[in-house]
Amino acid sequence: MSVHDCTILDLPRINDPRGNLTFVEANRHIPFGINRVYYLYDVPGGAERGGHAHKALHQLIIAMSGSFDIHLDDGQSKKTVHMNRSYYGLYVCPMIWREIDNFSSGAVCMVLASDYYDELDYYRQHADFVADALKAIK
Ligand code: TYD
Repeated sequence: MSVHDCTILDLPRINDPRGNLTFVEANRHIPFGINRVYYLYDVPGGAERGGHAHKALHQLIIAMSGSFDIHLDDGQSKKTVHMNRSYYGLYVCPMIWREIDNFSSGAVCMVLASDYYDELDYYRQHADFVADALKAIK
């Protein structure tokens, strides 16, 4: 898995003068089923979130409101994505270290996740993550 597998998905948009609507269907618009939804909000200026990788979890990250930057790292390559539209989702595959920062005031970061919360699925130490990520490539 590499940062190149982490792509921006253009979600369906129903534009309407009464307000726009976007929807996400599991296994149709995203390549996984959804077992959990969580969101970050009331993020103070200058704060950083993330700072971990997942062994098996698939995620879609959406800026429901406001904007933020997502920094991705697969152990070899890195890329940064600026999220600022509620109809774009960033697909993050397993084995990607992510950090999220530069939150605008009022930003809401929603995450659709393929599985329930499980601390055993996390790499919390970057060095542990890189060691396993490089092993998987060799
Ligand atoms: P963490 O994954 O470190 O948050 P972030 O990636 O946004 O920095 O989680 C922060 C805390 O919240 C940690 O104690 C675990 C808990 N948590 C849950 O209990 N359930 C969840 O679904 C998530 C994402 C976190």
